[in-house]
Amino acid sequence: MPAVLDIQSIVAGYTPSLPILRGVSLTVQDGEIVTVLGPNGAGKSTLIKAVIGLVPIAEGRALFLDRDITGSPTHQLVREGIAYVPQTENVFARLSVDENLALGADFDRQEIAARRERVLALFPDLAGLGRRRAGRLSGGQRQMVAFGRALMSAPKLLMLDEPSAGLSPKLTQAVFGQLRRIRDAGITILIVEQNARAALQVSDRGYVLAEGREHMQGDAADLLDSPEIGALYLGDRSRLAQQ
Ligand SMILES: Nc1ncnc2c1ncn2[C@@H]1O[C@H](COP(=O)(O)OP(=O)(O)OP(=O)(O)O)[C@@H](O)[C@H]1O
Ligand SMILES: [Mg+2]
Repeated sequence: MPAVLDIQSIVAGYTPSLPILRGVSLTVQDGEIVTVLGPNGAGKSTLIKAVIGLVPIAEGRALFLDRDITGSPTHQLVREGIAYVPQTENVFARLSVDENLALGADFDRQEIAARRERVLALFPDLAGLGRRRAGRLSGGQRQMVAFGRALMSAPKLLMLDEPSAGLSPKLTQAVFGQLRRIRDAGITILIVEQNARAALQVSDRGYVLAEGREHMQGDAADLLDSPEIGALYLGDRSRLAQQ
């Protein structure tokens, strides 16, 4: 089985003279949950946007299931099986929950009803809210609609940008708990997160992005135990002092 996602030395950014990603490589294997950590502005969102065709890749390449997708347009990548949940404004606030979900399968309209059933099985809290405007939902419910919309395209790879942003610790746990179930349904997951501990706890592996490159990588359990990661991302300053 080839890697689901194989990012090879990608250089990318918003203007050619100022690359944000300066040679990033990472892989996501079939059935894995992989988290990318990094400080504010490290380029985590830029990395996901480069993969999904929203930021141009100047050098390097991205393979999806062994197929070179460098420079492919976003709509084509969604059809091929990559779904993306943006960091902010990831639901259509004026549309209903059902309308949001239906848009996620717009290119596969005959599948909408069946996929909606599967999404509601994963997120039972959304049952009964189908006609509610997404903008009137709680933060946690909105995030479930955003995930659900992404899952409506029946992706092979789900990319999530800061899924816990704005959520309470309790909801964060609930949302991350769902990621294991989504993975168990056959969907490989790439997360970028500031909430390192919660994300690593549900992940198989992690990478740390710094200064435009992958600065560190390892099994999620090892990263959770690492004094450097603890000090920088898990709020464990005392642990570094003890070393
Ligand atoms: N649309 C844009 N145009 C120009 N520069 C941008 C744009 N979006 C982001 N940047 C810059 O690119 C760099 C990386 O931003 P990015 O959003 O990828 O970081 P991030 O790691 O996701 O940060 P955060 O943790 O705050 O979400 C930052 O210096 C940012 O100012
Ligand atoms: Mg970001």
